[in-house]
Amino acid sequence: MATLRTLPLSLLLLSLSSYSLSTPLPPSNPSSSFKVALIHRDSPYSPMHDSSVSSSDIFGLSVDRSVFRIRYIRSVLAGKSSPLKIESPVKVAPFEYLMRVGIGTPAKPYWLIADTGSDLTWTQCRPCDICFKQKAPIFDPSSSSTYHPLKCSTPLCRALEGDRICDGSSCQYQYAYGDGSATLGNLSTETFTFESPKSTVASLNPSILAKSSSGATGINPTKTSTSTSLSTNHVIGAKIKGIGFGCSFSNTGNMGGDGEAGLVGLGGGPLSLVSQIGSSISNKFSYCLASRHENNTMSVLNFGKNADISGPNVSSTPIVQMKAIPTFYFLNLSDISIGSKRLHIPQGTFDPSPSGDSGLIIDSGTTMTVLSSMAFSSVLKGLNKTAEFPPLDNPPEPFEACYKVPDPHRITGLPDITFHFSGNADWKWEPRNSFYIMPKNVVCLLMGRSSDISILGNMQQQNMVVEYDLKEKKLSFAPARCSQF
Ligand SMILES: *[C@@H]1O[C@H](CO)[C@@H](O)[C@H](O)[C@H]1NC(C)=O
Ligand SMILES: *[C@@H]1O[C@H](CO)[C@@H](O)[C@H](O)[C@H]1NC(C)=O
Ligand SMILES: *[C@@H]1O[C@H](CO)[C@@H](O)[C@H](O)[C@H]1NC(C)=O
Ligand SMILES: *[C@@H]1O[C@H](CO)[C@@H](O)[C@H](O)[C@H]1NC(C)=O
Ligand SMILES: *[C@@H]1O[C@H](CO)[C@@H](O)[C@H](O)[C@H]1NC(C)=O
Repeated sequence: MATLRTLPLSLLLLSLSSYSLSTPLPPSNPSSSFKVALIHRDSPYSPMHDSSVSSSDIFGLSVDRSVFRIRYIRSVLAGKSSPLKIESPVKVAPFEYLMRVGIGTPAKPYWLIADTGSDLTWTQCRPCDICFKQKAPIFDPSSSSTYHPLKCSTPLCRALEGDRICDGSSCQYQYAYGDGSATLGNLSTETFTFESPKSTVASLNPSILAKSSSGATGINPTKTSTSTSLSTNHVIGAKIKGIGFGCSFSNTGNMGGDGEAGLVGLGGGPLSLVSQIGSSISNKFSYCLASRHENNTMSVLNFGKNADISGPNVSSTPIVQMKAIPTFYFLNLSDISIGSKRLHIPQGTFDPSPSGDSGLIIDSGTTMTVLSSMAFSSVLKGLNKTAEFPPLDNPPEPFEACYKVPDPHRITGLPDITFHFSGNADWKWEPRNSFYIMPKNVVCLLMGRSSDISILGNMQQQNMVVEYDLKEKKLSFAPARCSQF
């Protein structure tokens, strides 16, 4: 195992077929693959699921969160906030997807936000000066045999740049918000265990699993480490040693209370999980977000080789990263079509700018797609010309374009919408993916207006498999039935 120790971020893939939970794959394995479940916060699998809230209220709340999310992204781009932590002094925690993660040795299970819009993975730690309430016991580093604080001289600590404090030899981060609240923690390393979708579901809601067609009914993941009754090729998860993360002991922002205990950073900056373990996962991850109209579906997040997508229907476009803020994944949107008509949006409208005045980011944490105002107006004009129905006079907030249609479940008379990304990569939505169904046969365009930055939100990423290749700086996508992934 000597070679393993020289690989600080070695990825240890665990499979019951030939290895017990505590035995890593040989380090000679050049690239490992694993997948985890991405759980939408409103799904029945989520710890935040509230079956008493109506679906229209659920949607309204997620639109509210979108507004805060855009504010968060703007403030990061403007240098007024830090991409290290999504936590912000707002009442609504702006995130949408969660994943189950085990922290430490022995691993303690937590729900963490899976976020393509932040870098640092973090959780609250004991002893905590000021912590938000969380449902799971706060992580105690002293009860883990694999916890190590990081020294100031380490590259990860240096990657914190202006947000680090190095009084002693250990590395702390501090971020102060404009309103006087702040967040502080120790930058450390720890072993993280990622549960596979099947063990996640089984641990959360066996009744849902029993209803699905899966043969895995009744798996109890608390027993999987000793059980040998699982099918032999069933990957139950991955254990990764030496992940740099934030052990937070002071949080004066508003967060938590909903069941989340921190965050997994999937952004493009050096501190993010995907950057840290990059070469072990071929610098690739992908996700496939299931439609939220379908019940009891999970989305999937793939790391490594199995994130690869290829085939005739795959389109690829460059990921553009800003030097100053490598966290966000900008895409080069060159034009939009309504039906078969190009809008001829002026060149440069979506040119990425480090200040966030323009450009388009693809983001998993924003619900509704927003477009810079001029482009959005062109879309509305284009819709006016192509739609077979007049728009409603007073569309319900937050929508700007709604139509009364004969059959909202088989929308006809409204056009497809296509985003043309550079590299000949067309991302096309049929009406059922770009319009939201309201009561009384009304459907509304699921896009909004922004004064500056444009964001491709998660509603418009449903049923599309999206691969991030961080080495080639390339985003690939293809239509997919994500519930069957
Ligand atoms: C953070 O590190 C300091 C020493 O550098 C230690 O005293 C403190 O307990 C640590 N806090 C947490 C939450 O790990
Ligand atoms: C999902 O569940 C709700 C309530 O349980 C039900 O009304 C609806 O028909 C279901 N939708 C689908 C697509 O099965
Ligand atoms: C590609 O798209 C076409 C048309 O949408 C579809 O018929 C075909 O099955 C797709 N191929 C793959 C490999 O998904
Ligand atoms: C973005 O698109 C514009 C015009 O379509 C092109 O000139 C530019 O080179 C593209 N940038 C990248 C990074 O592909
Ligand atoms: C779309 O048409 C309606 C009337 O049918 C009009 O009030 C509205 O201004 C038009 N919107 C745009 C962006 O052209």
